[in-house]
Amino acid sequence: MVTKHLNVTTENIETAAQILQEGGLVAFPTETVYGLGANAFDAIAVGKVYAAKGRPSDNPMIVHIAEKEDLQKLTPMITPLMDLLMEHFWPGPLTMVVNKAPGIPDVTTGGLDTVGVRLPSNQTARDLIRKSTCPIAAPSANVSGRPSPTKAKHVVEDLDGRIDAILMGEDCQVGIESTVVDVSGDNVVLLRPGIITQQELQQAVRGLGKKVEMDPALFINRPRDVSKGQLLEVETEDFKPKAPGMKYKHYAPKAEMIIISGEMGKVKAEIEKLQSENELNGKKVGVIIFAETELQRAAHDFFAKLRELDGQGVDLILAGALDDSDGIGFAVMNRMMKSAGYNVIKL
Ligand code: TXA
Ligand code: MG
Repeated sequence: MVTKHLNVTTENIETAAQILQEGGLVAFPTETVYGLGANAFDAIAVGKVYAAKGRPSDNPMIVHIAEKEDLQKLTPMITPLMDLLMEHFWPGPLTMVVNKAPGIPDVTTGGLDTVGVRLPSNQTARDLIRKSTCPIAAPSANVSGRPSPTKAKHVVEDLDGRIDAILMGEDCQVGIESTVVDVSGDNVVLLRPGIITQQELQQAVRGLGKKVEMDPALFINRPRDVSKGQLLEVETEDFKPKAPGMKYKHYAPKAEMIIISGEMGKVKAEIEKLQSENELNGKKVGVIIFAETELQRAAHDFFAKLRELDGQGVDLILAGALDDSDGIGFAVMNRMMKSAGYNVIKL
């Protein structure tokens, strides 16, 4: 299949919308990461998304809409809690898991009776969804297990020849995927951390007397301390996150990756030491160190940095841990730990 590379013009957005209406696959920019879209109500089209990504079929898709009113098509009842979250965070990088309306095919939701819905703020994404006149199921536009794509060229790397078209838009502003919250129950449960933090969500829902709980699976990080040679499996019986996608080994660069955690000065010294040791052994080493105070930049750059180092053919990536106690640091570290297969050296 020849994949059309479309610059963002009104005409090309119309072409892309038509491809979606006809059951094809189109990758498009959002403010978080690039998405790979299909008509959410077309089971055959959604099936093609799983095939193109090599994605396990029990992992549900996020359904993207262009207007708040479109949520009514996807869920039987809009609660005051959903209303409040929409008001605060939509359009933007928040996905709400809600009870699903009968018409949504099982393949879209991985067989669950809930559906994840998001209204992106990216203008190209919204224009595309609006013109296609259907809700768009879209996971991140990467091959399953690879770092999420934050630039059009990342999508080309992974999916060229496997999908109908790519809208070649701007680089993504946020750089990590949306915050996912389950609002199908009484309280809010945070399933995947993102740039919208637990604290911001809590602030928003306080008026309704609601709590923002964390999915316990988020804290089972299972670090394996490589310096002590311990091995721990990521997928075990007691590790059952409510967002199915959170259980897979994810975001992995081709190179081996180790996270060094501790006080920043010591971390930098240890990385320098490990770098020169490994280079003496003939290894090509890449380093990722973010400024502790620039967490938004860390989120923005992280996936792109992994792909850049892979492109340079490094054998080993050494990354400095960020403070993961809360906020955006928690969200970035969630990705970093998975990328490194939970390989950590604690100083
Ligand atoms: O920022 C984003 O959310 C991007 C852009 C393209 O919008 N999309 C994205 O999709 O990251 P994906 O498929 O890579 O990740 C979706 C996550 C997975 O962890 C999935 O298990 C979870 O959301 N999810 C989707 N629907 C769910 C549901 N009904 N219940 C629980 N988790 C759900
Ligand atoms: Mg993904």
